[in-house]
Amino acid sequence: MYDYLIVGAGLFGSVFAYEAIKRGKTCLIIDKRNHIGGNVYTEKVKDINVHKYGAHIFHTNNKMIWDYVNSFAEFNRYTNSPVANYKGELYNLPFNMNTFNKLWGVISPSEAKQKIEEQKEASGITDPKNLEEQAISLVGTDIYEKLIKGYTEKQWGRPAKELPSFIIKRLPVRFTYDNNYFNDRYQGIPIGGYTSIIEKMLEGIEVRLNVDFFEQREEFESLAKKVVYTGMIDQYFDYKYGILDYRSLQFETKVLEDTDNFQGNAVVNYTDKETPYTRIIEHKHFEFGTQEATVITEEYPGEWKPGDEPYYPVNDDKNNETYRKYKELADNEDKVIFGGRLATYKYYDMHQVIGAALATVNKEFE
Ligand code: FDA
Repeated sequence: MYDYLIVGAGLFGSVFAYEAIKRGKTCLIIDKRNHIGGNVYTEKVKDINVHKYGAHIFHTNNKMIWDYVNSFAEFNRYTNSPVANYKGELYNLPFNMNTFNKLWGVISPSEAKQKIEEQKEASGITDPKNLEEQAISLVGTDIYEKLIKGYTEKQWGRPAKELPSFIIKRLPVRFTYDNNYFNDRYQGIPIGGYTSIIEKMLEGIEVRLNVDFFEQREEFESLAKKVVYTGMIDQYFDYKYGILDYRSLQFETKVLEDTDNFQGNAVVNYTDKETPYTRIIEHKHFEFGTQEATVITEEYPGEWKPGDEPYYPVNDDKNNETYRKYKELADNEDKVIFGGRLATYKYYDMHQVIGAALATVNKEFE
C-alpha cells in the first residue's frame, strides 16, 4: 500500500510527491492527461519548447521559491514585455511612458499624468458601477478604448458595461519608460522548458497517465493510506452543491515552416474587439530561439461547459458561496488533502502553487 495516491501530475501534485519521497514515503501519481506537468507542460515542436496551455512566465518575489525552482532547472533572463496590437497600432504594455508617448506624443511623466487626469475628470465618473466605468475612472478614456475594452470583452464574453467593477481593482500605470510587465524581483523561463522540471521532480516515482481517478475511484482509494487531490473540488463531491463555473480557452497552434520570426515578441495582445483571439504567442522568443521555423499559438477565450478544460475560475459571489460549501466538506475529510488551483477554486500563479504545496508539505510532515 502506498502512503499517498496523488491525483494530478501538475505543479502541486509533483512538488508534493517530490517532498514526500524525500521523506521516505511512497507515492503513486496519476493523471488523466497523456502527459505530466498539468498546465505548465511544454512540448518540443521544431526544436522549440511550446507552452501547450498558454504562455507561462515564472515570476516571484520570494527568494526561497525562486531558489527552489532553480534547483530543478536553470532559468534564462526572459522579461515579460508584451505588446498590444490595436487595429495595427502597436503599444507597449504594461501602461507606461512608452505607451503614453505613442498614444499622445507626451514626453514627460507630468504631461502623461495630466492627460490621464483630464480624461478621468471629463468622464465625470465618481462612483464606478461597472467594469467600463471603473477602468475609465482609473486610466481615462483613450487607454480604456484602445487597450482594455475589446480585450476584456473578448475575455469575458460580455460587454464591459455588464461586467462587475471588482474584476479590475487596480490597473498598473507606470510613469517610467519600463516595459517589464511584472514588478517581481525574480523572473525567467526554464531553459529547456517546464516539463523537464516536472520530470526531475517525479524521477523514480510511479506515474500512471491517461487514468481518470473517477473511473476507478474505489480501486484507487484502496491503494493508498491518503489521497492528495488536485482535480476539481465539485467533481470530487459529485457536484452535490452544483457546478463551479470557469472560463475556458482554446489554443490554435501553427507551425510556420518558412518564417523564422513572426511577430518579434513572445506575447502580442490583440486589444480590438474584431480579432477573435486575445493574443498570439510566439514560443521561440521565450528562450531567444534561433531555429529556422517558428511556432505560434492563437488564444481564443470561450464559454466553459462541463467536460471542457477549466482554466479561469469565475470567482463571483455565487461561485464563491458554492465553493465555501465544498470547502466545508473538504475540511472534514481527514484522509484527503485538497490542493492546487482546481481543488481550491482559485487562480494561482506558479510560484503561489509551489508555495501552497510546500506549506501543505510542512503541515503534513511537521
Ligand atoms: P494543474 O491543472 O496544472 O494540474 C492538475 C492536474 O490534475 C492536471 O494535469 C489534470 O489533468 C489532473 N487531473 C484533474 N482531475 C483529474 C482526475 N479526475 N484524474 C486524474 N487526473 C486529474 N502562472 C504563472 O506563474 N505565470 C504564467 O505566465 C502563467 N500563465 C498561465 C496561462 C494560462 C492560460 C493559465 C490557465 C494559467 C497560467 N498560469 C501561469 C498558472 C499556472 O498554470 C498554474 O499555477 C499551475 O499550472 C497550477 O498547477 P496545479 O497543479 O494546481 O494544476
